[in-house]
This record gives sequence, structure tokens and C-alpha cells, in this order.
Amino acid sequence: MFNVETIRKDFPILSRKVNGKPLVYFDNAATSQTPQQVIDVIVDYYSNYNANIHRGVHSLSQEATDKYEQARQKIQNHFNAKHAHEIIFTSGTTHGINLVANGFSSLLKKDDEIIVSALEHHSNIVPWQMLCERSGATLKVIPMNQEGELVMTEYDKLLSKNTKLVFVNHISNALGTINPIEYIIEKAHQVGAAVLIDGAQSCPHIKPDVQALDVDFYVASAHKMCGPTGEGMLYGKESWLKKLPPYQGGGEMIAEVTFEKTTYADLPHKFEAGTPNICGGIAFGAAIDYMNAIDFDAIAKYEHELLEYATKQLSQIDGLKFYGTSKHKTSVISFNLEGIHPYDVGTILDKLGIAVRTGHHCAQPIMDYYKIPGTVRASFAFYNTKEEIDIFVSGVKKAKMMLS
Ligand SMILES: Cc1ncc(COP(=O)(O)O)c(C=O)c1O
Repeated sequence: MFNVETIRKDFPILSRKVNGKPLVYFDNAATSQTPQQVIDVIVDYYSNYNANIHRGVHSLSQEATDKYEQARQKIQNHFNAKHAHEIIFTSGTTHGINLVANGFSSLLKKDDEIIVSALEHHSNIVPWQMLCERSGATLKVIPMNQEGELVMTEYDKLLSKNTKLVFVNHISNALGTINPIEYIIEKAHQVGAAVLIDGAQSCPHIKPDVQALDVDFYVASAHKMCGPTGEGMLYGKESWLKKLPPYQGGGEMIAEVTFEKTTYADLPHKFEAGTPNICGGIAFGAAIDYMNAIDFDAIAKYEHELLEYATKQLSQIDGLKFYGTSKHKTSVISFNLEGIHPYDVGTILDKLGIAVRTGHHCAQPIMDYYKIPGTVRASFAFYNTKEEIDIFVSGVKKAKMMLS
């Protein structure tokens, strides 16, 4: 049974005060909070079995290696990857995207085309622009509409035999739109293009099945789903990961090194040069366990209730304009108050103990489309409550009164 009051007890940070007021944390799309169960795993690692992995014969190293590889299997099961070696530990979504973009440098040539969407976070734009500079390929963009949805008829027109790669997010961080990735993947495959899905914002809310999606690459960050920062994963189909060259050279990723020639290790180690964030990987596994124990269907249902409740309350405020009004959205609300800069609203909310994000949310093209400098973004997690939304809505009203 989903019980938010019981869940909240797992998160020590939720009982602290900010500026003398109880914290209302609505910046979950930037980073989620960490439950005690995950904090305990981190403390246990450093207290009891901190050691380098895959190299030592000693017991501590073996213990850490076992826990790290068990975490890889947890991630494999969670995303339903066929093989554990299709899961590459990364430092986060950004790292995963750069790894793939770098690998494609040697596979693309002039006249090849790659497709991005208008709804992307900068980390799913810039690495591909850099790839275009290196390879001579051209970047095409799926446009968006006023509701903050991708225009699929335009996507269809962009696809051709020259298309080699398509990369879109599963859910937009700035607007919360859930993109039709099943359609995007199917259409891309029809022209022989590979697809990378940026799952940074979907993983906290839904449980993606990479085999059912038939996606080629899927990336995520642990810190968006109750895990630690600096940790994430790249899923890649075995055939693609075998084809891509290593991203970084160093220890761990080699089979044999001589000054004449180096041969590379098998998957997944080929992409995991150097000492990884061992504790981070293990804690990522613990975060996945934690969220699965709560249940993703229950999480999605409850967060949808929060979204509807907050949308209804906020829509009663005169001069408040929402950005991102798709029917298919997750628990993110982006808005502005007429004539007021989003930063000023965020500053007043902070004084009231309410944490929201303001600005362009690393998605400047979306702000350019709407011709605004940014928005106020409130993003809810399964540990938030309707009472917190009431506090937030009265905070927005107060900000409007003070700044008008
Ligand atoms: C959609 C999306 N993609 C990529 C990222 C980058 O994630 P990270 O900073 O964890 O690498 C974010 C972070 O906010 C995001 O929301």
C-alpha cells in the first residue's frame, strides 16, 4: 500500500527547515532526495568494505567487486536488458551520451544525418553538435508545438536513408512532456538508423523495458532516482557496444598492453576505464531496489494526482501562464507570472522554504521557442504531498502580490 507519510520518514532531509520554514522540495527534476536505505548503503561501503575492484585478490576487494557486479545485475533486471554486460556504468546521463557520440565519430561520414528534438536538455544537443563538427554529418531538429509536444509529421519528413542516428529524451525536463518514443524508435529503425533515448527524466517515474522498446541506447542518472550524484548507466545493445570504439583509455579497459599495441577488454569493461565510482554504483543498485519496493505503478499514479491537483490550484491564479500543456506529461509544472521574472519568483519561494528551479533548465531552445528567458519549474516526486502543494500555491500568490 502506497503511504506517503510512511515514505517521507525514509528521507531525513524532508524534515529540515530552510529559512526557518519546513522544507518543501519541488526541485526533483534537478535531483531527487536520498532515502535512509541508500544513505546506509553508502555508509556501509565506506565503513566496511571500501576497496578497489576487479583487481585485488584480497577479501575486501572481492566483496566490493561482488557488490558492484550485483548492482549491475540489478540495473540489468530493472531495465530488462538481455545481458549484464550491456549495462555500462557511467558518471551520469551526460557521460553516457558523450560516450555514444564519441563512438559514432568513426562511423559517420559527410552527408550522413542525425536527428535531435526541439525538447532536449543541452546534454543531448551539444555532444551531437561536436560529433557533427568532427564527422561532417548534419544535425536536423524535430520541431515542437505550443503545447510542448514534438510534431511527429515533421519527424516523418526528416527521416531518410541518410539518417544514421536519432536521439530524443523520453520525458522533457523543462516541460514534463512524455515523448512518443515507441513511434520514434520504430520509424528510425525503418530507415536503418540507431536510436538513443535520454531517460534522465523518465527513470524516476516509470520503468523502461529496453528490449520491448527495441531501443539501441538508453541513458540515465542515479541522482534523479534516489541514488547518488556522479553515477549513472548506459544501456547499449550488445551488437552496438561491440561496434563502438572505447571512449577513454586507461586501466581496467584493456586485455593486453604493449608499446606496440593494446587490445581491449570485453564488454562492459571496454567502456569503463579507470577506477569507477564503486560506492555510487552499489548505491545506484540500492536506489533501484528502494523504488521498486514502493512500486513504479503506484509512484506514477500518485504523482499524476499531485500534477492534477497542483495544475488545478495554479490555474486559478490570474496572469499565470503554463508552458508544456500536453496531455501526456509527468509531474513537472513550468510557468511564469505575467510581467515578473522567474528568478524573482524563485527567490521569494526560497525565503518561504520552497525549493523550485528557475531559468532555462538547460533547455535554451525551448525558451527561445516560447520567447521567454526562462520559467519557474516545480517538479514533484512520490514523497511530496498535497499539503506541500497548498503551501507552494500560497507562496506563488504571495510572490505575485509582492512583485506586481
Ligand atoms: C533530460 C535530461 N537529460 C540529461 C540531463 C543531464 O543529466 P546529468 O547532469 O545527471 O548528466 C538532465 C539533467 O537534468 C536531464 O534532465
